[in-house]
Amino acid sequence: MGLFFNLCLLFFILISISSTNACDRCLHQSKASFFSKASSLSSGACGYGSLATSFYGSHLAAAVPSIYKSGSGCGACFQVRCKDAKLCSKAGTQVIVTDLNKNNETDFVLSGRAFNAMANKGMGQSLLKLGVADVEYKRVPCDYKGKNLTLRVEESTKKPNYLALKFLYQGGQTEIVGVDIAQVGSSSWTYMTRNYGAVWDTNRAPEGALQLRLVVTSGFDGKNIWAKSALPVDWTVGGVYDSGVQIDDIAQEGCGECDDQIWK
Ligand SMILES: *[C@@H]1O[C@H](CO)[C@@H](O)[C@H](O)[C@H]1NC(C)=O
Ligand SMILES: *[C@@H]1O[C@H](CO)[C@@H](O)[C@H](O)[C@H]1NC(C)=O
Repeated sequence: MGLFFNLCLLFFILISISSTNACDRCLHQSKASFFSKASSLSSGACGYGSLATSFYGSHLAAAVPSIYKSGSGCGACFQVRCKDAKLCSKAGTQVIVTDLNKNNETDFVLSGRAFNAMANKGMGQSLLKLGVADVEYKRVPCDYKGKNLTLRVEESTKKPNYLALKFLYQGGQTEIVGVDIAQVGSSSWTYMTRNYGAVWDTNRAPEGALQLRLVVTSGFDGKNIWAKSALPVDWTVGGVYDSGVQIDDIAQEGCGECDDQIWK
């Protein structure tokens, strides 16, 4: 009797843990401030450089370490809305993480354009005057409207052995947690490591045309994504290459407060 009861209890505890944890969009409460220049958010800890200002209509964000996640949070997209009903719209705006925010008083420092985009019509100036706003936010999938995951060969690359690649236009709602590289047609894979932000590198770069194998978080698990011809045989330093694949997976999170609705 006692054992049966305990088993039932355990069963219900497990069910309730997995149902509270399986969330596509955890809701977070914090504050956000802003930089007046989007370029303040472009050089930083993710390594996107001036390219960042072309992302998401310059709706950029510097995020605290718990979101930046040692660089794996670079390129993640969030829906952010401020909570003053008079000044702020219910939909808020979408931003992309392009930098690390070392100030722990707000989870995000937004570009002025993103901060302003949270306002109701005609309320932009009043919101900007506040400087800091109470916000709520959740992670959302990044959508680059038809663009594939793209690779940029970094200037630090030194042929033939040292290769540094930056990932751009990373879709979905995941993190890249592993990268392997091999010559096209070869099964001799070499791992790359995250150098910083969105930049991965290796000292043992294969020659020729290159293929990539990515491990991304998906659901509660991992998933392999294979870019069969990521870099052409004549790739060059500074070159930007379409990987031919895109990520559209959603990695679920565990959290207390889940909000799967789309804010409108
Ligand atoms: C922020 O960090 C400072 C210094 O480490 C600490 O004293 C302060 O309590 C932190 N504030 C918050 C809101 O966590
Ligand atoms: C993305 O990759 C696919 C498959 O290689 C390709 O057919 C498509 O043209 C690429 N899309 C863009 C926008 O380059």
